[in-house]
Amino acid sequence: MKEYTLYATMGAGFESVVAKELNNLGYETTTENGRVFFKGTQKDIVRTNLWLRSADRVKILLKEFKATSFDQLYDEVYSYDWAELLPVDAQFPVKGRSVRSKLHSEPDVQSIVKKAIVDKLTDQYRRRGFLPESGAEYPLDIHLYKDTARLSLDTTGQSLFKRGYRVEHGGAPLKENFAAGLIELTPFDGSHPFIEPMTGSGTIAIEAALKAKNVAPGIWRIFAFDNFDWFDKKLHPELVEEAKAQEKKEHAPILASDIDQSILEIAKVNAHNAGVLQDIKFKQVAVKDFSTDLENGVIVANPPYGKRLKDREAAEKIYEEMGQTLRPLTSFSQYYLTSDPQFEKYFGAKATKKRKFYNGNLRTDYYQYWANKR
Ligand SMILES: C[S@@+](CC[C@H](N)C(=O)[O-])C[C@H]1O[C@@H](n2cnc3c(N)ncnc32)[C@H](O)[C@@H]1O
Repeated sequence: MKEYTLYATMGAGFESVVAKELNNLGYETTTENGRVFFKGTQKDIVRTNLWLRSADRVKILLKEFKATSFDQLYDEVYSYDWAELLPVDAQFPVKGRSVRSKLHSEPDVQSIVKKAIVDKLTDQYRRRGFLPESGAEYPLDIHLYKDTARLSLDTTGQSLFKRGYRVEHGGAPLKENFAAGLIELTPFDGSHPFIEPMTGSGTIAIEAALKAKNVAPGIWRIFAFDNFDWFDKKLHPELVEEAKAQEKKEHAPILASDIDQSILEIAKVNAHNAGVLQDIKFKQVAVKDFSTDLENGVIVANPPYGKRLKDREAAEKIYEEMGQTLRPLTSFSQYYLTSDPQFEKYFGAKATKKRKFYNGNLRTDYYQYWANKR
């Protein structure tokens, strides 16, 4: 079977998390900013799309070359065997990105690449006039970095964060792969309790339950590769069946609470859609009243940030309340994501470790407090 150079893409800061996930799936990796490379066949394309929890996409690297002029870019793209990849009616949107390169105009880079592919396909298929672009989609991208171009095919389609279990509700939930990445940074594996005391629409708790049950996060969705005409159509259903056979039933308790009953109702719908409603105990409780008899687990929370000044005081009061009820739970490793640089002051303890992430455009810190196990 043909082996491809593949890479996963991810949000800034999650490179090592995705690399670890790939290593756990048995792949050797090399990491760059925003990308983790590995080798694999079509089966590995299906497997990684199904199983990666914290990545955005899995792409095939088609070609890598130097490009300092548009002629060079055109010739290198033209020389690829496009008819092997794209059927005559393929739709092939091209996304262009250029960073610190001579060819800095992204729209120009994009349109030269598109033109080179159109010209080559027109020659290869001996077409006169336009290509129909009415068939399946093959999403391509060209990425220039310091004059080195990478041409890739996206095998994922809609980003992997779109698992398919979430209902829209107008709030600002964490992306599913972001939530999963935060969990990957904890020791949680389902064998010890998990608590999310400000669960909102439930993303973190649901991702924890999926991990605890060893459910492949991509199990419900389709991917771009499903429509590639050269892709082995048996692989996806086979690997879904294999994944289902690996699901676990038993795990330690998972608790999810929030002060707001109406958001908890949405969380329950999401959990139901993800097949984990029975795996999570939802409870309406303010963090100041939170208590538990559980021990030796993990707490993860995404409390309100208080971006605007008037909300900030309220958020900081919540951090104080978290400090009063959660900080004494020292047998739990605790992880809090917020953009408030004063979090530690109000929570009342310095984090063991901090890690920077961007939640959308907002800079946040992931405050990590390691447990004293009983
Ligand atoms: C940033 S949102 C969490 C979003 C969540 N991660 C998601 O993906 O939907 C913060 C949550 O904290 C809850 N909250 C605010 N004050 C609280 C309090 N005092 N006790 C418990 N929950 C609180 C809000 O109702 C809100 O759902």
